[in-house]
Amino acid sequence: MNQDTAAPGPTPASTDAGAERLVARAVTVRFAGLLALDGVDLTVEPGSVHALIGPNGAGKSTFFNVLSGVCPPDSGTVRFGEKELTGRPPHRIAALGVARTFQNIVLTRGTVAENLMLGRHVLTRAGFTATALGLPGVAREQRIHRERAREIADFVDLGRLFHTPVDLLSYGDRKRVELARALCMEPRLLLLDEPVAGMNTAERQRMAATIAEVRAALGLSVLVVEHDMGLIMRIADEVTVLDFGRRIACGTPRRVQRDPEVIRAYLGAGTDARPAASAPTPAAPSRQAESHPPEPTPDRARPPGTEAGEDR
Ligand SMILES: Nc1ncnc2c1ncn2[C@@H]1O[C@H](COP(=O)(O)OP(=O)(O)OP(=O)(O)O)[C@@H](O)[C@H]1O
Ligand SMILES: [Mg+2]
Repeated sequence: MNQDTAAPGPTPASTDAGAERLVARAVTVRFAGLLALDGVDLTVEPGSVHALIGPNGAGKSTFFNVLSGVCPPDSGTVRFGEKELTGRPPHRIAALGVARTFQNIVLTRGTVAENLMLGRHVLTRAGFTATALGLPGVAREQRIHRERAREIADFVDLGRLFHTPVDLLSYGDRKRVELARALCMEPRLLLLDEPVAGMNTAERQRMAATIAEVRAALGLSVLVVEHDMGLIMRIADEVTVLDFGRRIACGTPRRVQRDPEVIRAYLGAGTDARPAASAPTPAAPSRQAESHPPEPTPDRARPPGTEAGEDR
């Protein structure tokens, strides 16, 4: 479908999502002496919700950074359908249909509408000069993008807040703006890094329902990092578990929840066993664009299946 003439309503931007499988193979990332990802394999089946879980520091966000081009892997490959994503910059990966949200909210100042229009930018045809000069066609294109942004805002239940500055929104609504902005890129694969972290129970349930609707109505594939096993049990088809950068389990939520190695990882067994690369870890290495301020996430002492916040 032509992005500029997307039909009203929560219409998928593309109906060929079924053809596109995300396949990551042997993805390895080192931060100086730290092996953050150690040969990780992961496949997201088209149209499925796949959860990526693991204790704090397991490498989940680093894996997202590899998939979205923020952090090129030291080795390994990532393909989305026929397209090779490995080594491409984030804007190219977004243009190929992979959009993400960040663990920590990254919104610009301005209204909900302005933030969502930033998501449309990746689809904008008019170049910088044409936009600056206000050439014919630019205004029409902008109007079409704005209408689509409005539809997406309505879809995630932010329509009534479309013209509200994001600074005035609740935490839960700001997380929804992030989701809506990613949807504005018309992705076929959505990467959500802890979409309900820090939310109260009602906000979590609302977000879980929205994620389920995204899959059902838009037919997208979703890869979601989440600590809340209640939510995962409810929405995920498949779960991959990382620990110390290694994939230790993969399967249905129910199977993974009972896996002894997964339970051991969450209980903290073997916490001294992090595999190191050749050199010792420096005190403050920095290679990744995303910072990690404290987030209200569970720690290793809480095995999956005992998370608070969601009813089963
Ligand atoms: N830029 C960086 N420089 C050095 N080490 C990093 C960098 N980013 C992440 N790390 C380290 O890599 C490991 C994996 O971090 P990552 O943020 O991917 O974990 P995570 O599974 O997302 O954890 P959390 O659940 O706390 O969000 C951690 O030990 C972390 O400290
Ligand atoms: Mg993380």
